[in-house]
Amino acid sequence: MKLFLDTANVAQVAEIAAWGVLDGVTTNPSLVAKEAKDGTKNPLDAFKKTVLEMCKLVPCVSAQVTATDTEGMKKQGLEYARWHKNVVVKVPMTVEGLKAVKFFASKKIKTNVTLVFSAAQAMLAAKAGATIISPFIGRLDDQGEDGMSLIAEIMEIWQQYNFKTEVLVASTRHPRHIVDAARIGAHICTIPYDVFRKLPGHALTDNGLRKFQSDWGKVIGQ
Ligand code: G3P
Repeated sequence: MKLFLDTANVAQVAEIAAWGVLDGVTTNPSLVAKEAKDGTKNPLDAFKKTVLEMCKLVPCVSAQVTATDTEGMKKQGLEYARWHKNVVVKVPMTVEGLKAVKFFASKKIKTNVTLVFSAAQAMLAAKAGATIISPFIGRLDDQGEDGMSLIAEIMEIWQQYNFKTEVLVASTRHPRHIVDAARIGAHICTIPYDVFRKLPGHALTDNGLRKFQSDWGKVIGQ
């Protein structure tokens, strides 16, 4: 399973990319807003700079369109795609978005269909030619549904047909989400920075290393 970082913070991408395990980044308008500096004269230029810096670090960076009509999405997406070959145009799961995805597919521009909350939406996005679909599991969990069941349902459907579209598990909240997504066979998981930092650690690893160090200290007489 590919691991993506869910952030608009370049320093976080650089840090995790240096571990050698990062396959991509997903951004969205809310994450961009979180990083925005007060008084930025041209927010689109700032966003472009962020995306380009990320493209130097990872092979796949999702940049979300903010237009809600097909023509607007096409215009924005074409511009994003010109920025760098690693850019994937993120499009919301609406009928207008599906039409834009079909257009981008005809131009061989990669897309990530976001805000997917049902298997029916997932199938439509795949049929329109999405490169990636992003079901949001945490937001389903938040309202008392079982987000991971949606991933299982989508993967079951994907096994019946020849969809090339990759299933990206989004809105993850904790390490168990990542492990469960991998067990189901999801193609990609996007992970917030704080959750990503929890993945390498284990108390028994720390304790075990302390013991090895102390025993080796005895061997070399320290
Ligand atoms: O990639 C989508 C993700 O950022 C949404 O996460 O935590 O806002 O539900 P969240």
